[in-house]
Amino acid sequence: MQGKTAIITGGGSGFGRETAIKLAQRGANISVVDISNEQGEETVKLCKELGTDAIFVEADVSKVEDVKRYVSQTVEHFGKIDLFFNNAGISGSGVRTLDCSEEEFDAIVAVNLKGAFYGLKYVVNEMLKTGGGSIVNTASLGGIVGMPTLGPYSATKHGIVGLTKTIAGEYGRDNIRINAIAPGTNETPMVKAFPAEAIKAMGEAVPMGRLGQPHEVGNVVAFLLSDEASYIHGAVISIDGGSAAL
Ligand SMILES: NC(=O)c1ccc[n+]([C@@H]2O[C@H](COP(=O)([O-])OP(=O)(O)OC[C@H]3O[C@@H](n4cnc5c(N)ncnc54)[C@H](O)[C@@H]3O)[C@@H](O)[C@H]2O)c1
Repeated sequence: MQGKTAIITGGGSGFGRETAIKLAQRGANISVVDISNEQGEETVKLCKELGTDAIFVEADVSKVEDVKRYVSQTVEHFGKIDLFFNNAGISGSGVRTLDCSEEEFDAIVAVNLKGAFYGLKYVVNEMLKTGGGSIVNTASLGGIVGMPTLGPYSATKHGIVGLTKTIAGEYGRDNIRINAIAPGTNETPMVKAFPAEAIKAMGEAVPMGRLGQPHEVGNVVAFLLSDEASYIHGAVISIDGGSAAL
């Protein structure tokens, strides 16, 4: 990945940060996009410590003007975009789906689905100018099966799967590879804050008997973005310890 440029949305935490580190270790330059300045800057620092160039762009992916800006600032600084981890997302308050307010439904759609769509729209436009690229969208186990109490989240993640498959059909001949990942529950900072017993119970419900670790997602994303995955296109890759199998 030496000399390649990657944009990572939601790069300030969890899967985004883990992937930034994996790509920086492989020599890629990183544009970290996040709504949180402090977390984004910390990821930039971690990438630079690995000897690569990195910038932070503060942006809200649900705002189209912010998306245009993170794309233009990345191209201004690095000259091109080769890799895109379209990853920023939010979950929901955990009520029965039809009890979810209109406002909350709209907010989840705006970040998870429209934010991902805007990113694809403006990043692919740049990739077409330079001969192609590779993209990974973050879906979820909830993009493959239903998730009681996370209905809007699950609906947007099913939407990510639909976007991924459809765009794969439209842009494969332009040398743009696009795939999605479908992670199960991972021990990200949010989950780690749960009581130990709850984490244990969630892990026991997984066929492998444990929750995932963010680096296990970062490894797969780095592989899918790399040339080693050169014939994987339009796929939805589960990273869930077997949960989608049942
Ligand atoms: N953690 C899990 O178990 C899990 C499982 C399946 C899918 N996912 C998905 O993976 C992705 C990353 O989740 P994570 O667990 O790493 O979460 P996280 O909360 O650790 O990181 C998400 C990052 O996105 C940023 N962000 C949130 N809203 C944003 C916005 N509007 N614009 C820009 N940045 C924004 C946050 O500031 C944060 O740094 C999300 O799309 C999530 O839905 C997570």
